[in-house]
Amino acid sequence: MELSRRTVIAGAAAGVTAAAVAGTAHATGGRKPVKTLFGKLADGTKVHSWSLENGGTRMRVLSYGGIVQSLEVPDRRGRHANVSLGFDDLADYVASSPYFGALIGRYGNRIDKGRFTLDGTDHQLSVNDGENSLHGGARGFDKRVWDVEPFTAGPDVGLRLYHTSVDGEMGYPGTLRATVTYTLTRDGDWRIDYEATTDRATVVNLTSHVYWNLAGEGSGGIEDHELTIAASRYTPTDAGLIPTGELAPVAGTPFDFRRAKPIGRDIRAAHPQLITAQGFDHNWVLDKGITDRPEHVATLRDPSSGRTLRIATNEPGLQFYSGNFLDGTLTGTGGRVYRQGDGLCLETQHFPDSPNQPSFPSTVLRPGETYRTTTVHSFGS
Ligand code: GLA
Repeated sequence: MELSRRTVIAGAAAGVTAAAVAGTAHATGGRKPVKTLFGKLADGTKVHSWSLENGGTRMRVLSYGGIVQSLEVPDRRGRHANVSLGFDDLADYVASSPYFGALIGRYGNRIDKGRFTLDGTDHQLSVNDGENSLHGGARGFDKRVWDVEPFTAGPDVGLRLYHTSVDGEMGYPGTLRATVTYTLTRDGDWRIDYEATTDRATVVNLTSHVYWNLAGEGSGGIEDHELTIAASRYTPTDAGLIPTGELAPVAGTPFDFRRAKPIGRDIRAAHPQLITAQGFDHNWVLDKGITDRPEHVATLRDPSSGRTLRIATNEPGLQFYSGNFLDGTLTGTGGRVYRQGDGLCLETQHFPDSPNQPSFPSTVLRPGETYRTTTVHSFGS
């Protein structure tokens, strides 16, 4: 992170240690994450909050849903703000969260009518979005209490989150053992490594549902944020937001983010796809395709604060959702009401409804294989 490097240099010149100045990593590595009680579920299960800090980035993660409850990064003057939408109370996450900050599984985004056929067997999933299954069904990974293990590794700090999803959970076949590792690096990058194995053939597509507002959550809309997505095509949807199967060119449409563009510039264009989704809520087909290593795919920049977010992934798709369904009924961490477009999601993923779309990259996982994907969020100012 550019700013923390500057801070470290300034601190060294003043004769204080980098750790004292940045308040984060010491010479030998980051400080171990700190655990506190966040709340209790109705059945008495304790939910903890873990505080992590490294390289100028501070985050709080809940054992419930692996939720990033807050994520603070500095602006161009070194002032931190929480750039991720969320709640203060566990009760709000349980009752009414539109996946704020949560881990999503077993399947990110929609599966048509919650049905798919694998190796000749039909499966019916939990349906929770009209007639479709969204983000793993009624009780997806976002509503599970994960086992959390903190770690420090050289200059990095992080959490390992574990969840075993039993055979048949939400209709999905196979016992799925998922491990998600959140790492905060010495540069203040937030890296997510997803891993999963199964004992029966299944489908899996894990992602993270942080709502970003680089000016600070609760500060207003994200229409001035400039977005770049390295994708020449996207997957148009039907009225239920299920991909039609077409990979449509972005050229000459509001979906062209190949060069940095303010989100608000075309969001009100009378394009049928924008009208259906009430804004952007689509999967971009990343030009790089599936890669062995994470590659840069998107940049988000808030001109007012100077904060930037760069996303790298090895996944082939990116769901850009412009917070269309936020409707002024939820009050966030800072006590402010979230209205439409007050945050946006950039969900790295395989394409929605792949189990029903033979031409899309496969999301099938078989016994003996390990599902592995990585996404890195790098902050600057
Ligand atoms: C995803 C979907 C949206 C919406 C949000 C959660 O991004 O694509 O349609 O369901 O999750 O509100």
